[in-house]
Amino acid sequence: MREPRQKQSMPDPSSLTPDQIRTMSYNELVALVRETNRFPGGRRSIHRIASRLMLTSSSRVLEIGCATGSTAIELKRLVGCDIYAVDINPVAIAEAQRRADVENLAIDFATADAADIPKPDQSFDIIICGNVTALIDDKAKAVAEYDRVLKSGGVIVAAPMYYLEPPSTQLIADVRAAVQVDLPIAYREEALDFYFQLGFETYDVIDYAFDEVSQEHVDSVVSGLLASPHLDALQPASAEALRNVYANYMHLFRRNLALMGFSILFLRKTHFVEDEELFTAHEVAKAGLNP
Ligand SMILES: C[S@@+](CC[C@H](N)C(=O)[O-])C[C@H]1O[C@@H](n2cnc3c(N)ncnc32)[C@H](O)[C@@H]1O
Repeated sequence: MREPRQKQSMPDPSSLTPDQIRTMSYNELVALVRETNRFPGGRRSIHRIASRLMLTSSSRVLEIGCATGSTAIELKRLVGCDIYAVDINPVAIAEAQRRADVENLAIDFATADAADIPKPDQSFDIIICGNVTALIDDKAKAVAEYDRVLKSGGVIVAAPMYYLEPPSTQLIADVRAAVQVDLPIAYREEALDFYFQLGFETYDVIDYAFDEVSQEHVDSVVSGLLASPHLDALQPASAEALRNVYANYMHLFRRNLALMGFSILFLRKTHFVEDEELFTAHEVAKAGLNP
């Protein structure tokens, strides 16, 4: 089992120099900026998952790799279900808890490893693991753990991201260096096959491509993020350094996402035996909704 990382302290903006900011890793910058980490496709995906699963206030949901809590928080807002959300990063969990507290939402956030979930067998109706399992070293152990804590008849929702077009070697190297993770380069078939061979019933698959986003829109989102009041304490030169390094990262990630898509997979732990279905169908693709 990988031990959860030790508690790290949040950086104090007022004491940061421009040079310190320029040498911070992307992960440290995210903690400083408190950027919201979102499920692929954002809030629309969460709404679709909640309605697809017919979640109710009595549903017991586990979220794996919840980061700063946006998925758990949006689910709680939508249906008020019972949510236990874990991440291996204690700084992300502290921020998730702070955000839930601001809205007075009772969500049980905890620092834990996906491969060692501190809950009894068959505790959950639904497990949501958006773009996290592919990043875990021992995927088989993590999935065995999901299976252990999932009730019979329950559903795992996964959202693997993959390339629709090949990235350049330089782009991959830059993204890996930025996130400090040896990100896998997978295409749709390979990314989904991992889940299909696990032995769950494939209940549904919804495919998405990430939207095109203009450079101007990226810059405007960065400006909005950096206008957060907790960054007012930055010295002007440090604020300028933060704007430059953060905008560079956002443009890099958008260049990468422009080549990518993801699928939302619904995998059911089927608890009955039935003859195989032939009367199946797939949804007809439609254009994105974003302007
Ligand atoms: C790419 S982010 C995805 C966050 C969010 N689930 C989403 O869909 O956007 C991956 C998250 O998984 C967490 N993570 C990585 N390995 C983990 C593990 N073994 N157990 C629990 N969380 C883990 C990371 O700390 C990070 O917050």
